[in-house]
Amino acid sequence: MNPFEMLSPAFQETFGTSPTHAFFSPGRINLIGEHTDYNGGHVFPATITLGTYAVVAANHTQTVRLYSNNFPEIGVLTFDLEDLEFRKADSWANYVKGMVKYLKESGHTITEGLDILIEGNIPNASGLSSSASLELLAGVIFEKMAHLTVARLDLVKLGKRVENEFFGLNSGIMDQFAVGMGEKGFALLLDTNTLEYEKVPVALGENVIVIMNTKKRRELVDSKYNERLSECQEALALLQTKANIQSLGDLSTTAFESIKDVLPNETLVKRARHAVTENERTLVAAEKLKTGDLASFGQLMNQSHISLRDDYEVSGMELDALVEAAWQQDGVLGARMTGAGFGGCAIAIVEKEKTEQFIREVGAAYEAAVGYPGEFYVAEIGDGATEL
Ligand code: GLA
Repeated sequence: MNPFEMLSPAFQETFGTSPTHAFFSPGRINLIGEHTDYNGGHVFPATITLGTYAVVAANHTQTVRLYSNNFPEIGVLTFDLEDLEFRKADSWANYVKGMVKYLKESGHTITEGLDILIEGNIPNASGLSSSASLELLAGVIFEKMAHLTVARLDLVKLGKRVENEFFGLNSGIMDQFAVGMGEKGFALLLDTNTLEYEKVPVALGENVIVIMNTKKRRELVDSKYNERLSECQEALALLQTKANIQSLGDLSTTAFESIKDVLPNETLVKRARHAVTENERTLVAAEKLKTGDLASFGQLMNQSHISLRDDYEVSGMELDALVEAAWQQDGVLGARMTGAGFGGCAIAIVEKEKTEQFIREVGAAYEAAVGYPGEFYVAEIGDGATEL
């Protein structure tokens, strides 16, 4: 879409002027490597063409004014550049405020307010990282409008700080990294321990990636997410008494199997085993994608889902219904949940010419299982956050 054409009328109506700049920040899918990013493991995300658009103008005051076409009922939100405390009532503006706060704290000067109107097409609460999309959107907006030079990796880390410190969610770096560094046609194989990464072409031949949305609200996600994190930390501390490791990502499956008896219960064994095996699967899967062995790549996606379902226990009946229905279909190379889980989205690699049939069949099976319809989109791998 042309954001100026699309969003200028609303901008004009809301703020009484015309926007001067336009920006876009994507959502992401993760091909494989789930719940490994806070365990020092590897992830393999890619940015999609669904995302958040913004049109912007300087307003020559000290106030930032924000409006989202997605939340007209919330109206205009404002905050002062000299008062950057988190306030619940400020709703989604906190993502923008948090970015401004940490940009300023890291030494950047931001003195001029902006009028910002946004519109996103990432389905709401779908686990496709609408929050990281918004954080990096705010990052590139202020970088441009306040004439800052910020290394992209620093912007990524500030986005993560907004989640961790501003919102108190202990998430890893995958989402912000993907949204900030993503590139059309590529997935990023990221070592979350060193932050070294490699771009791998998402060359799927005659296949496409279908995103399958459970449309289930992800109510438990924050508390369960933090619970998994502490289970992994507890397991790591015990495993460290037996092996010289910094994170679960340092362990091979074989090494883990030989020392796992130090863990006092089956729950900790399962959580740590997922982190270890998922990290190994991710490395193998990236190799398979590079060599064009899509069949093996798909198998590894399936194994990833099984591990997330049985060992990590973050899928839930809706995600399982979608993925298990996908596995039954003709022309499917692999399918798994993507993102934090407990609802949100799954992905499948499907033969292009079977896509319609796939969506019809999985859609019907899903609705029969849960009583309401899911949603399906063919994913395109697009660019990271940028001025347009
Ligand atoms: C969420 C978090 C990420 C990552 C995934 C699970 O998306 O924001 O950091 O942990 O869950 O892989």
